[in-house]
Formats: sequence, structure tokens, C-alpha cells
Amino acid sequence: MKNCDNKKIRILITAGPTREKIDDVRFITNRSSGKMGYALAEAALKSRMDVTLISGPVCLNPVNGVKTIKVESASEMAAAVFQNAPECEIIISAAAVADYMPETVTEGKIKKREGGLVLKLKRTTDILETLGASKRKDLFLVGFAAETEKLLENAEGKLKKKNLDLIIANNVADSSIGFNSDSNEVTLIFSTGQTVDIPFGSKKSIAETIIDKILNIVQKKHQ
Ligand code: CTP
Repeated sequence: MKNCDNKKIRILITAGPTREKIDDVRFITNRSSGKMGYALAEAALKSRMDVTLISGPVCLNPVNGVKTIKVESASEMAAAVFQNAPECEIIISAAAVADYMPETVTEGKIKKREGGLVLKLKRTTDILETLGASKRKDLFLVGFAAETEKLLENAEGKLKKKNLDLIIANNVADSSIGFNSDSNEVTLIFSTGQTVDIPFGSKKSIAETIIDKILNIVQKKHQ
């Protein structure tokens, strides 16, 4: 793995799911384990970057040497990202941020009644899209596309819509490489049009390849 020389490159990584409260005992979440984001944080640390990890609720051990900020909801994650983003040269958004949150959060516990229950949801902030909309020239912005269909087409759409430098297309329909697995297989699509397939392997080795490729570009930009 490449090491970053001279001035330490600062990287911010988001990981894991978010939790959107329904009441004081229930929430909406998703199947993200946080493993890919944590593997990226370890790989970035190994490359001697200054790493900040903003993590949703996960069952993973903290990474020694990484500044970790624990959050629960999409809005807490957004606040932590927007606060730390101005100091970073690289941001990788690996978190599976909830797209919707309950319109109202009920105090206490919603009691069971006859008939069904309708939950009204509203959109959360798209953190990555917000960052992309006012992207600094010296920021390298990376997103993940978690897809169950039309993997590359949908990923390319997100690359453009969110004004990213790189999107990592991830097929989450396949359980051998999906959310909870220790392995993955991804395609990198750069804004330059270049694509790189990273074949099936551990999330650790895939994370190291991704960090190496990003570092190569960012170091050239900052020379
Ligand atoms: N993302 C984000 N904030 C959100 C939703 C997504 O920052 N509220 C980021 C994710 O971290 C990821 C990228 O946007 O890097 C794409 O997320 P994904 O869930 O694949 O797609 P969405 O943009 O949410 O669109 P859809 O759910 O319709 O596929």
C-alpha cells in the first residue's frame, strides 16, 4: 500500500446505517453492517492519513488511531459531516443513510389499537448531494451506489447527480457480497469516465485498493 508523504491528507469516512425514530422504543433502519466503511478507515490509517470516521450504530470494534464520531440519525450524521468536511481533502460516503424519517416522533410508546397504523415519512437531507452541490476544487468526493438492479447505469446517474469524483458501484442484491458479508466486489466509476473492476475479495483488501487508487489521484493534485 502507498503511504502519504509530507503533509498528512485528511479523510472523512461515513459508515453504517442510520436510525430514524418512530417513538421512544422503535426506529426505522436498514441492513448496513458498517464493515466496508470501517475497512476503508483502517486502510486510510494504514496509508498514514488523518482519519475521521462518522459512524451510525454498528456492532464493530472502534479502530485505534481513528477519530470516531458516533451518531444515530441521518440528521445527526449530516451535522457531523458538515462540521468536519471543510477540513478534509477526501470524503468517502459509505454510510447507508436513511432516505426517509417519520414526519413526527411520538413521545413514549405508540400503543396498539384496532386496525392498521399509517406512518407518514418525510425525506432526510441527502448529505452527499449537499456536499457535491458546493464542492471545493481541492476536495475529492466519493460515494457508494447500493443497487439491486441496473448497477452501472444507476451508479453513473448518482455520480453525475451528486457531482462526485468517484462512485463505487455495489450490488447489494447478492448476499455473498452484500451488506453483512465480509467480502465484496465493486466497480469504480470515475468522473473522468475511467472504470475499474475490483474482483471478489475481502472488504479489507478491496478497501486497500480503493484507498490506493484515490491517494494516487489526490497526491498528484496536491503536488
Ligand atoms: N447518501 C447520503 N445521504 C442520504 C442518502 C444517501 O449521503 N440521505 C449517500 C450514500 O452514503 C451513498 C450515496 O449517497 O454514498 C448513494 O446512496 P444510495 O442509497 O445508493 O442512493 P440514494 O441516493 O439514496 O438513492 P436510491 O435510494 O434511490 O438508490
